Amino acid sequence: MNVQSALQQGTDILDRAAVGAPRLTAEVLLCHALHRDRTYIYAHGEDELPERAWIHYGRYLDERLKGKPTQYITHRQEFYGREFMVNEHVLIPRPETEHLVETALGHLKGKGELTVLDVGTGSGAIAISVAIESGRPVLASDISSDALRVADRNRQSLGAPVSFFAADLLEGVRPHCVDLLLSNPPYVPGGDAANMQREVREWEPHVALFAGDSGLEIYDRLLAGAEQAVKPGGRLMMELGYQSLAGVRELLAARWTDIDVVSDLAGWPRVITATLAP
Ligand SMILES: C[S@@+](CC[C@H](N)C(=O)[O-])C[C@H]1O[C@@H](n2cnc3c(N)ncnc32)[C@H](O)[C@@H]1O
Repeated sequence: MNVQSALQQGTDILDRAAVGAPRLTAEVLLCHALHRDRTYIYAHGEDELPERAWIHYGRYLDERLKGKPTQYITHRQEFYGREFMVNEHVLIPRPETEHLVETALGHLKGKGELTVLDVGTGSGAIAISVAIESGRPVLASDISSDALRVADRNRQSLGAPVSFFAADLLEGVRPHCVDLLLSNPPYVPGGDAANMQREVREWEPHVALFAGDSGLEIYDRLLAGAEQAVKPGGRLMMELGYQSLAGVRELLAARWTDIDVVSDLAGWPRVITATLAP
């Protein structure tokens, strides 16, 4: 079996099972099995596939057919131009979340020293990107110690000035010490599980996805904590779930001002920003 025919076979198998982007997925899995990049596959199409690579490739295809996301097979996902290590303990960082990073960087530009905290950091994608791009230290927390281990590996490999700690939301954070609070919290209503993609529902950590029946439970608790942890006049930036804008606006109404919403490329409200009233 040569490289080219292995690629074709993998593509056909994935295509028959209606896996999305079968050719690209087969390429990524074959590259992972060969420890090579895509240019190698095309330059060495006639080469015999080493037996070890063939065994690994077969296993990866089988895992993908069972619904495992490609990123949990390769343990990689690109975010804001960098490669993050991921595993089943962390949400796979999504491109939409880059809007939160952009918004945070816009706010930080030209400002002096500020305390920045990312709550529910998962792989560390937001905290690490903001820290590297802004050249500032960032604090980040998660309730999952397994997620924090992944985040810390990413911190080390990317050389980011981020300090992590384990906490239930803002528990233990000193009152009024945060200048900029960032979060992409869990926001999927429990009842939506049945309509989710199988890859997400069956493989991504439920603690990263679901937030009670309404999808607003974590926003509600996070805002209660933020009103204590953020400095008066400090800023909050959160990713919005599908259909969570109205509920989050209501939760912000009592204590937050200067509320702005940033839409994503598809036009959906994606990031909400607000200032804690003095
Ligand atoms: C939607 S994921 C976001 C992960 C990452 N920030 C990203 O954008 O890719 C939500 C994260 O919040 C964490 N989380 C859930 N409940 C939490 C809680 N009560 N306190 C702190 N973190 C929590 C989960 O473990 C998960 O890592």
